[in-house]
Amino acid sequence: MDTADQLASMGTFRVLKLPLGFIRVLEWLFAIFAFATCGGYSGQLRVSVDCMEKARSNLSIGIDFGYPFRLHQVSFEAPVCEGIRRERVSLIGDYSSSAEFFVTIAVFAFLYSLMATIVYIYFQNKYHENNRGPLIDFVVTVVFSFMWLVSSSAWAKALSDVKVATDPDEVQLLISACKIQTNKCGSMHRPHWSGLNTSVVFGFLNFVLWAGNIWFVFKETGWHKGSSKFAAGASEKQAGTFSQQPNNQGSFDQSGSFNTQGDLIQPSEYGQVGGPSSYSNQI
Ligand SMILES: *[C@@H]1O[C@H](CO)[C@@H](O)[C@H](O)[C@H]1NC(C)=O
Repeated sequence: MDTADQLASMGTFRVLKLPLGFIRVLEWLFAIFAFATCGGYSGQLRVSVDCMEKARSNLSIGIDFGYPFRLHQVSFEAPVCEGIRRERVSLIGDYSSSAEFFVTIAVFAFLYSLMATIVYIYFQNKYHENNRGPLIDFVVTVVFSFMWLVSSSAWAKALSDVKVATDPDEVQLLISACKIQTNKCGSMHRPHWSGLNTSVVFGFLNFVLWAGNIWFVFKETGWHKGSSKFAAGASEKQAGTFSQQPNNQGSFDQSGSFNTQGDLIQPSEYGQVGGPSSYSNQI
């Protein structure tokens, strides 16, 4: 009986413990991708101003921009095509709040998931003490899921605006020389967007990961087992009194087929078995 219990617990451990830890590892990897691709971005566009008076032309005006996308602070010099005069032109828009919000969430999500992974591996007993670890973990995971959704959506919207604001065809409209028919303006080079598109994809992937992990953290809390089972999960020291209640046992055993699988989703069991060493082996 004892060995059977242990085997079941080992199964529980393998099936249950693995997703939570494994998803946490994916979470911090994906968070790194999210903030590195967004926060590390720099791009360039290039326009040409071809004046009727050729000597005044500048056929390659490069405009650099990057994170945090305060485009109104990005300026460049363009010929006015009258005399040798030049004008200073600024791009339009400030998308720093969305970009910085996204990167901030990504950095904190990275720190939390990294910390949580360490706690799962090295402080399992502390984690399950008084059920406080799973409780905090659950709340934080719900909050981060929501934050990933909000910040990714905001950043996706900002990115689509940044793409318009840095489109060379749009930037030409800001240059006064380009408004005169006799001058010709052209778009030489568009910014590359693959890195920023990746950051949005990873933002939403992170949302999916964190939202999915809500379920696995929820299992840790033991709430899903219902009120009677919750009592068992919450206070394992009262296991003796619990086994004296025939009603509970009966109703629990009624679903026999569920019970064999049900063993796999009982959080209270693996907490005691499967030490840190076997967990790290899994990873
Ligand atoms: C054209 O503009 C760039 C700035 O993008 C500047 O470095 C370069 O000197 C200009 N060329 C001429 C011929 O004025």
